[in-house]
This record gives sequence, structure tokens and C-alpha cells, in this order.
Amino acid sequence: MCGIVGAVAQRNVVPILVEGLKRLEYRGYDSAGLAVLGDGGAERLDRVRAVGKVKALEDSIQQLKTEGQTGIAHTRWATHGVPSEDNAHPHVSHGVIAVVHNGIIENHEKLRTKLQELGYEFTSQTDTEVVAHLVHHHLKKQKDLCKAAMAAIGELEGAYALGIISRDEPHRLIAARKGSPLVVGVGIEERFIGSDVLALAPVTRNVIYLEEGDVADLRRTEHTIYDASGKKVERPVRVSEATADAVDRGQYRNFTEKEIFEQPKAVADTLEGRLGKGRILEEAFGVTAGQIFDNTKAVQIIACGTSFHAGSVARYWIESLAGLPCNVEIASEYRYRKHVVLPGTLVVTISQSGETADTLAALQQTRKLGYGHSLAICNVPESSLVRESELTLLTRAGPEIGVASTKAFVTQLTALLLLTIALARRHGLTAEKEKQLVEELEQLPGRIQKVLELSEEIRALSERFVDKHHALFLGRGVHYPIAMEGALKLKEISYIHAESYAAGELKHGPLALVDANMPVIAVAPNDELLEKLKSNLQEVRARGGELYVFSVKGTGVRASNTTKIRMPEVGEWTSPILYTVPLQLLAYYVALAKGTDVDQPRNLAKSVTVE
Ligand code: G6P
Repeated sequence: MCGIVGAVAQRNVVPILVEGLKRLEYRGYDSAGLAVLGDGGAERLDRVRAVGKVKALEDSIQQLKTEGQTGIAHTRWATHGVPSEDNAHPHVSHGVIAVVHNGIIENHEKLRTKLQELGYEFTSQTDTEVVAHLVHHHLKKQKDLCKAAMAAIGELEGAYALGIISRDEPHRLIAARKGSPLVVGVGIEERFIGSDVLALAPVTRNVIYLEEGDVADLRRTEHTIYDASGKKVERPVRVSEATADAVDRGQYRNFTEKEIFEQPKAVADTLEGRLGKGRILEEAFGVTAGQIFDNTKAVQIIACGTSFHAGSVARYWIESLAGLPCNVEIASEYRYRKHVVLPGTLVVTISQSGETADTLAALQQTRKLGYGHSLAICNVPESSLVRESELTLLTRAGPEIGVASTKAFVTQLTALLLLTIALARRHGLTAEKEKQLVEELEQLPGRIQKVLELSEEIRALSERFVDKHHALFLGRGVHYPIAMEGALKLKEISYIHAESYAAGELKHGPLALVDANMPVIAVAPNDELLEKLKSNLQEVRARGGELYVFSVKGTGVRASNTTKIRMPEVGEWTSPILYTVPLQLLAYYVALAKGTDVDQPRNLAKSVTVE
């Protein structure tokens, strides 16, 4: 989703801005732009914008020889107005004020009317342009960029991260955040802003995480931060863990491939320090975790997208292993309906980015509803979700750049299994059983590695999908959400329409779609539902459907019209994690064969910071 980078320095900041934008490319965008101010007193604000990739912007910058010591840059993911150069940021008012914005200004129509009455002309369809004009309008009275920005912000409703510069104050950059993430980078005699610390990794690791409602007034050698009430505040400078090479794809063709193959390490890292001798170390969840888990009587999981699928697996685990009632719901649905709050419910949010607007809003909603405690399973330590939750278990997957979530998902599942064990301990899980589970977790990275060895077989198979338009994914029980995730991966990166069904539902509708053109992919572990699933597969065969069945040795799923992909050994509880991997590989190789943009699929964003 939209990205922001900004800098105020003595050197030419254009290369820093462009490099920052490239590091944000993974978030998904459709156009890019930057605005810079020249050195001391130069009365020029130069703006360059381009539809498409940052590379297109870079080409224009090179042609125009754009340079400047203060600047702001942006990648836009269209919400208000089509992707076009006119709608790309920065937005400018009277050649004086330039603004970049992430989020949505909800009262933009009202403000637009007011500004039009004041004589301002609009050149875009965006909600952002009102901010540029509004700051310009207030500057006439305030005569100071920061004061004008604060006055303008006072009129905004909605969510924003903003970067603002003025032609008339060439060594100053104003930043503001409410509802969208923004960090300030503190360099030596230079200051930066970024919507993600990764964007700043090449220039500084010293960062300030702005809090809700903060406005930052940045100059090369100093910064002043005001809180939501306008009071001057000190915010700590932290050392970010993001390193400059964190977003290097190494020997791989793209980040998605890298991230799929990194999964053994990502899972091993997630488990590190969290397993003792035959037991899990629940202190990893936070010092108060033990007491909170003692009092937990039910679990409410909230997430979006792939993270929702992880939560859907956890529901099976928590109910069957811990015997606690567990609900799982999509955050955008959760936040807008009435709830029956069970006392002692632990709210668990799951998010790779920790910045998903719906998940954050749903968490806030649970507080209003009077839920007790909250736990975030999240991949980004400094994220809003982590900061707003009482307990956290970090999935140490490392930066995930591919828009389609892969390693974040398997590490979320790993973390959720740890949570399940922690809760189950209090509800009859014996030490012996816990030891078995811990052994299974210890074997997980090695087993994922073995599944990755299927890659060549799956790549060869993927060619059969290239000219298909639809696919059906089937699973049962705890593997049903894995079928959901498999279908999501295929549609996200290969653009093949894919649906998932609990296999028992086949006869209630989807069977009507089955013919020789509809590949049916089944997740068929050797569990208590295998025989039931095999009957469902017969229903497909009888209609001439072409089956691809992922299953272990000796399950007897081989038959006519069936391609069996033999899985290596899987553990009883970690089985859903292992069956995820071949489905990721399938989607990946189909996308590769189709030549789609695997890392940045069309229309999608990595981190969805708007509702
Ligand atoms: C976007 C991403 C998905 C992700 C979802 C939830 O749609 O493209 O990959 O699953 O957001 O994101 P989160 O960061 O909260 O896990």
C-alpha cells in the first residue's frame, strides 16, 4: 500500500528518496512521485511523477536532472481516483506546498467545497490534494509551516501519515501521523521520514516511532515533536533491527521464491528460545502471560487475509487440544457487528505487518466491548499492533517482501501452536503429551526442508495449470483452512480463479462445476477424516474431474484421473504447516510459468493500512 519517504539534509536527497521508494515497492502501488527543494533560498519546488514502477520515475528524474536537499516521495495505491499522473503524490498547492499522504481523509469532500469557495483549484481526484491547499491556506495567516500544518491537521478527519514541505522554508520537513504508521530517522545532521523503517535502513538505524496524533518538525540538525494536544514531547530514539540488506533477494528469482525457501529457518528462528527440555517456555509471551492464560476461558481470534487462515487453523487446535471455545473472525467483519462477550476471553490478533487498519480497529473495538486481555501474533516488533497489545509473540520470519504471504503464515502457525500448548497445559495436557508436541515442533524445520525438495516435481506439474481458468481446493478438518490458503495463493499470484471448499460440502454445490477443465487439488493427510475425504474425491472422479492429491505414503489415494504428490513424513499436529508448503510451491510455479509479477501482483498491497 502507499509508501512515504522524506529527507532534509545537506546532500542531494533524490537518490535516498528513490532508494527508499524501491524498498517500499513490495507494499504494492500503482504510481510514484517526489518533490524536492533546492539549496538555500532557491525559489523552486520541483515535482516529478510517473504512473507504474519506481523505475519509470527514476528515468524521468535522470532526464530532468532533479536534485534537492529537502524532499518527499511517495508510492501510491489508488483509493480516491484512478492510477494516473495527476492523482500521483506529491500534491502541490500554488507551487509552494507539497504533500505526500498515506491513509484516507474522510471529510475531504466537505474540505474540497470549502477550499473551492476560497478560490483553490483542484487538479486531481484525490482526497490528499485538500491537505496541500489547506496547509497553504493556513500559511497565509500563520506564517510558519509547522503551525500551518497543525492548523490544517486540526481540520482533518480520518487516517493519515503526512510529509509536508514548503518552497519558502527549504530546510524544513513536517511529518504527522494518525492511524497510519510513520517513523522519523535521525541521522548525523540529517533527518528522514518513512512509512516503514525498511525505507530508511540504508541511511540510518536510529528511529523515532511517532505516536498517534504526533506532529514532527524536522530540520537537518534538530527535531521537535508535538503530541496530539500540541504539547512538545520527547520520544525515544530507538535502534531499528532492519538492516540495509534485509531486502536483498540473493540468489533467488524473486522475493516470493526466497521467502518460500527460507521457511525452515524462519520457523527455527520463531522457535528459538521458546522451547525448553520437553516443554514450551511460556514466558516468551510476556511476564504477565502465565496469569492471563490461567484466567482464559475462551479465545477470540481476529485477522485478515492469510493471517485469518492461520487463525482458522488455530481454532481447531485450541478447541481440540486445549478444549477452550475459540472464535475466529475476519477483522473487517468483526468491527461492524454486535457481539456477545464471554467473560475471560483472550483476544488474539494475527498480523504479519501489525499495521492492517481493520485488525487494529477491531482490536480497539474489543476494548470498547470490555474484553479482557489481548495478545498479538505479529512479525514486526515496532508495529502499532504490538504496541497496542498487552502480550506479544513475535513471529521471527524477517521482512516479508512478496505481497503474497508465505513465511509469515507458517511462522504464525508455529506461534499459534505454542499458544495452544500454553493454554492446553491448564486444561489437561499432560507433561508427556507436551513433550511429544515439543519434539514435533523441533522436527518441523527439517520436515519443511524435506517438503521443499518436492519443488522440481511441483514445478513440472504446474505447467498443466497454465491455461486453466479455475481451480478447486479441497480439505477437511484442520486442513480445510490450508485448502483456503492454497486457493488464495493461487489466485493472488497466478490470477487463476481458485476456490476452496470443505470437501464434505462438494455435493452441496461446487460439484456442478467439476469437469475435465477444472483441476481439483486435495489436501489428504492420513488422519481420521481420510476415508471421508476419499469418498469426496470419488465424487470428483465420477464427474471426470482431474485430481491432484497431496498425501503421504500408503493412503491409497492413487486412482484414475489422479496425480498424487507424495508428501514426506508429517507430524500429527504440525501437519497443516507442512501441507501449506507444496500449495505455495504450486501457486508460485504456476505464476512463474504464466509470467505474472509474482512479488507484486496487480491490484494488491502488502500492508493494507486503509479500511
Ligand atoms: C494484505 C496482504 C496479505 C495479508 C493481509 C493481512 O492483503 O496482501 O498477504 O495476509 O493483507 O495482512 P497482515 O499484515 O495483517 O497479516
